Amino acid sequence: MEKRISIAIDGPAAAGKSTVAKIVAEGLQYIYIDTGAMYRALTYKSLDKQVDLHNESALMDILNKSEIELLPGETGQVVLLDGKDVTKEIRTAAVTNNVSVVAAHEAVRKEMVMRQKRFAEKGGVVMDGRDIGTHVLPKAEVKVFLLASVEERAQRRHTENLQKGYPSNLEILKEEIAKRDKFDSEREVAPLKKAEDAVEIDTTSLTIQQVVDQILKLALERIG
Ligand code: CDP
Ligand code: CDP
Repeated sequence: MEKRISIAIDGPAAAGKSTVAKIVAEGLQYIYIDTGAMYRALTYKSLDKQVDLHNESALMDILNKSEIELLPGETGQVVLLDGKDVTKEIRTAAVTNNVSVVAAHEAVRKEMVMRQKRFAEKGGVVMDGRDIGTHVLPKAEVKVFLLASVEERAQRRHTENLQKGYPSNLEILKEEIAKRDKFDSEREVAPLKKAEDAVEIDTTSLTIQQVVDQILKLALERIG
């Protein structure tokens, strides 16, 4: 039987990680795991319960009682929180602007990483996030670090918002993205960082298909 490898895709916000990870997973018939959605789901539930996001034990109380499932859906990944579909709710500005604070807690990360490793146990997985190549799947056969200028990334989110009919301001998006990247890169536990053995791809002037092709090529080399 063909070898089923693990593919780790990391990088800053809106670099195209989930878009390309999903297509690569479909191409190889692997499962796709969006780890950011897990931190978002916890943030959503904690905001809903009006918990202080700086209180690690309060967050852990919630996380330990929460089931977060990631399932393939017709139009992308479906996120179930305690059995309820929260796919849309976890993408609001309130969640986006608070998720990095939640994700900076050591105990939260430890539990999330344990759950993520479990998802990947059997191989045949494409996982995207910030610490996949460095901490979650340090032995992944393919590691990719996606980059793009902050202007390009803000523009991509802006276009996406307008297409969905959401209100959007390019300058505010640029500031929010830069702020979140800085916070994610400077936190003490498992900061956003390229793994030493990751292949860096600057996607600023690449199409989605070009990025997908590069990753598939790396994957096929490893699958043999
Ligand atoms: O899609 P977008 O780039 O906006 O973000 P995301 O992948 O949904 O991740 C949201 C946030 O979760 C990030 O800004 C990080 O603070 C955190 N995160 C993390 O710390 N580690 C991961 N493996 C994935 C996400
Ligand atoms: O997951 P992450 O936050 O890294 O980014 P994303 O949500 O997958 O992608 C952000 C947006 O950039 C999406 O609307 C993509 O269609 C677009 N895009 C891309 O992902 N890659 C390119 N090379 C060009 C555009």
